[in-house]
Amino acid sequence: MVLYVAASRDRSERYWNSLAQSASSRFDFPLWRHYCDELHAQWLHQRLPPSRVHKALKTDLFDEACGEGLAECLLALTLPGGECHGFDVSSVIVERAAMRHPRLRTHCCDVRRLPFAENQFDLVISNSTLDHFHRKHDLLTSLKQLHRVITPGGLLAITLDNSHHPLLALRNGFCGPFMGGGVVLPYFVGHTMGLRELSKELRALGFEVLTCGHLMHAPRLVALHLSRLLPSQGAAARWFLRVLLALESLAMLPTAPITGHFVAVVARKLPDPSAAGN
Ligand SMILES: C[S@@+](CC[C@H](N)C(=O)[O-])C[C@H]1O[C@@H](n2cnc3c(N)ncnc32)[C@H](O)[C@@H]1O
Repeated sequence: MVLYVAASRDRSERYWNSLAQSASSRFDFPLWRHYCDELHAQWLHQRLPPSRVHKALKTDLFDEACGEGLAECLLALTLPGGECHGFDVSSVIVERAAMRHPRLRTHCCDVRRLPFAENQFDLVISNSTLDHFHRKHDLLTSLKQLHRVITPGGLLAITLDNSHHPLLALRNGFCGPFMGGGVVLPYFVGHTMGLRELSKELRALGFEVLTCGHLMHAPRLVALHLSRLLPSQGAAARWFLRVLLALESLAMLPTAPITGHFVAVVARKLPDPSAAGN
């Protein structure tokens, strides 16, 4: 198993490194990045308790390598003197994120084998990192790793591609659960879960699910392509962002499971009952 993860880590690192080196222009649209950052920051702001944490961790540094990402949001969630960590399997992405955000403590590692001691982090943010594996087993291994490094009582805020979104269902129907880069998104997408399955797996690991719902209700393909055409600043850009973010009100309708591109869960790690009385 250890050998499999090591070999697979090398493959993942090569894949994401070459993508970052050769294809960054295909996903680096400032207006789109701005929308993604704003959307996730708003979600965290609305769903996380207001108290700040000592030690926070973000899985994958893609957003921080391309632009602002969630670096400022993570820093704002951390107490003065606290630590903000982030990691990615791609050394190229880690380097770029570290250059842009020197206050982040960055690491190059695989989420399936984290080099951190257990019970370290009060908060882990994982936005669409774990939905890039060939095997469901790797997604589950990653969830276990996140559970291991979170302190009892600590929080996990996680999003995954929503397997019930019609575009995703269509893609899986035609292309199998995986799609190589290029057709719709510039990168490989893999196994994912619906909200019920993700919540069930999190509970089985020893999390209490605090909130769950769907995120990104703007039509992704249309919005992505429009964001390439519009100027990244000015009145039109501001109006475009306002419209995309306003579409999040669709999360309140019964149709949310088919309009949301991501499932989004905030969960708390329960204390280990076997540790009681130790
Ligand atoms: C396409 S990006 C998407 C994530 C981004 N947060 C978003 O919301 O769009 C996937 C990121 O996960 C990283 N990644 C892929 N497999 C990984 C693994 N096994 N361990 C850690 N990071 C991984 C990639 O290098 C890449 O930066």
